[in-house]
Amino acid sequence: MEQQASPQQWVRDQISGLQAGVESVEIDRDAQKKRIKDLLQARDAVLVAHYYTDPEIQALAEETGGCVSDSLEMARFGRDHPASTLVVAGVKFMGETAKILSPDKRVLMPTLEATCSLDIGCPADEFSDFCDQHPDRTVVVYANTSAAVKARADWVVTSSIALKVVDYLDSQGEKILWAPDKHLGSYVQRETGADVLLWDGACIVHDEFKAQGLRDLMAVYPDAAVLVHPESPASVVELADVVGSTTQIINAARDLENRQFIVATDQGIFYKLQQLVPDKEFLIAPTAGNGASCRSCANCPWMAMNALDNLAEALDRGLNEVLVDPGLADKAMMPLDRMLEFARKNL
Ligand code: 13P
Ligand code: SF4
Repeated sequence: MEQQASPQQWVRDQISGLQAGVESVEIDRDAQKKRIKDLLQARDAVLVAHYYTDPEIQALAEETGGCVSDSLEMARFGRDHPASTLVVAGVKFMGETAKILSPDKRVLMPTLEATCSLDIGCPADEFSDFCDQHPDRTVVVYANTSAAVKARADWVVTSSIALKVVDYLDSQGEKILWAPDKHLGSYVQRETGADVLLWDGACIVHDEFKAQGLRDLMAVYPDAAVLVHPESPASVVELADVVGSTTQIINAARDLENRQFIVATDQGIFYKLQQLVPDKEFLIAPTAGNGASCRSCANCPWMAMNALDNLAEALDRGLNEVLVDPGLADKAMMPLDRMLEFARKNL
C-alpha cells in the first residue's frame, strides 16, 4: 500500500515545488533580458525609459547605454542619440515626442495602449476651441498631451522647466493659457504670479495624494523631508520641502542632509532613489483615507503596461511603431524645439 506523506513532508514538497517555479520564472526573465540586449544591438536600437517603468526595464536601459530619466531628458536623449531606432518605454506622449523630434528614426513602444489621463482629458478639438476663445493668451501646454494639442501650442513644457518658462513669459508681459494639468498650472501660477488661465485636467495618480494622510505620516517621521511632484493637489504641495519633476526629486534626495524622505510621486521612482542613495530611507506618501485597505497606490496604470515581454516582441517584430501625421509633427516641432532650446540655455 502506498504510504501517505506526513503533513510536514507535504509542506516541504509544496515549498520546493514553489521554489522550482520561482527559479524557472527567473531563468525566463534572464533569458528575456538577454534577448532584449541582443535585439537592441541587432536592430541598432536604444532604450529610452521613464523613471516610473518597471525596475527591470530601467536596469536594462542603463546596462545597454540607453537612458532612464524624466520626460524632458527622454526627449533630448532620443533626439541626440545616433541609433536609428528608439524604443520608448513610458507612455504614448513620450513616444510621440520622440517621433516628432526625430522624424527619420523608427520609434517603437512596448505597447501603444499606454496613455495618460492628462492626454485623455484634453481632446484636441475642445482644446482648440478653448484657445480660439482666448486669442490674447500665449498657449503653454504640458508635454503630457497629444501631438495635435502640441501643434496648437506656442510652448511645450515639462515639470522640470515649467516654472522657468512661465516666469520668463510673465516677464515679457504675456498672459498664459495653460493645459492640461490644473495642479501643475496652479502651482506655476502661485509661484510666478503670472496671469494663468487653467484647463481642468489632472493626473489620476498624483491627484490621489492626501494632505491629511501626509500630515499623519510626517508626525511619525518628523525628520523626513517631503518631496512632491507638482501634479499633486495644492494642499499636498503646501507641505513639501521640495516640489519638482522626477529628476528634481531624485536630486533633492541625493543632496539634502535628511536620512528619511516621504515621496509623493509614482513608486517606480524608488528604484532610482534606492540605487543612488542606498543608505537613506524612502516612504511613499499616502493616497488612501483611513478606511482604505492599501495605504498608497501611487502607481501609474499606463506606465505599468511596459513589460519585458512586450518590449522584446516590439523590438523583435518591429511592432507598435509610433507614427505622427507629418503636418501635425511639423507644427508640434516648433514649441518642442523652443522648450529644448530654452532648457539648453537655462537649466
Ligand atoms: P516628469 O517630467 O517629471 O518625468 O513627469 C512626467 C509624468 O508623467 C509625471 O507623472
Ligand atoms: Fe500621466 Fe499621471 Fe501616468 Fe504621469 S503618472 S503618465 S501624468 S497618468
